[in-house]
Amino acid sequence: MKEFTTNIQHTPNPSQEGKAACVSIIPSSATYSLRLSVLWQHKNSLDECKLDIDDLPTTFHVGAYKNREIVAIGTFLRQQNEKFEAKNQYRLRAMATLPKVRGENFGKQVIDFALEELKNRKADLLWCDARKVALGFYEKMGFNIIGDFYEVPIIGKHKLMYKSLPNPSEGGAFVDNDTSNLKLYNP
Ligand SMILES: CC(C)(COP(=O)(O)OP(=O)(O)OC[C@H]1O[C@@H](n2cnc3c(N)ncnc32)[C@H](O)[C@@H]1OP(=O)(O)O)[C@@H](O)C(=O)NCCC(=O)NCCS
Repeated sequence: MKEFTTNIQHTPNPSQEGKAACVSIIPSSATYSLRLSVLWQHKNSLDECKLDIDDLPTTFHVGAYKNREIVAIGTFLRQQNEKFEAKNQYRLRAMATLPKVRGENFGKQVIDFALEELKNRKADLLWCDARKVALGFYEKMGFNIIGDFYEVPIIGKHKLMYKSLPNPSEGGAFVDNDTSNLKLYNP
């Protein structure tokens, strides 16, 4: 498997020191607290919030900071979805913003930062299993919806969403509008 290099630092960029808000690549362990408090309250510990894909060389995590606190996160991993023809697909998982700062564009900053990183990685499509409550957010971020709602155990209704990225390799087109055979994951 090809290992990706990135020129993005794993700690807040020093040039951002002293600024109230910034966004950067963060280690997987820095996502667990928000995952637990915002996304997976049914879990019992930070340890349970670790995903098996978290530390793959093709996975990266983005965090937005406000006053040195991580207030929004997203995890981006290389994963092909057979519904799409694109050759270098990434999947977004565990996107969350702390309730106290929602609507302050921290989620948008996470997505925008990741899109730059995905450009470096020559990704041609980003997809996600979007919770019903977050569909409007993803639409604002330029994602499209495919198919009907499906149920993810414990979490609730989701729709498959995708965003074509501006540096397509071959393909990139949508393949199949029948989502009935899709495997479900814990988004
Ligand atoms: C979805 C979520 C990540 C959005 O984060 P956020 O930081 O509040 O979003 P932002 O402030 O960056 O919003 C960016 C834009 O999307 C809009 N937006 C945000 N959430 C929205 C929603 N649920 N429905 C419609 N629009 C929404 C904002 O109004 C803003 O629009 P604008 O640019 O016109 O002002 C956050 O609400 C959240 O953590 N929800 C709970 C967890 C969750 O469902 N995560 C997604 C799992 S698939």
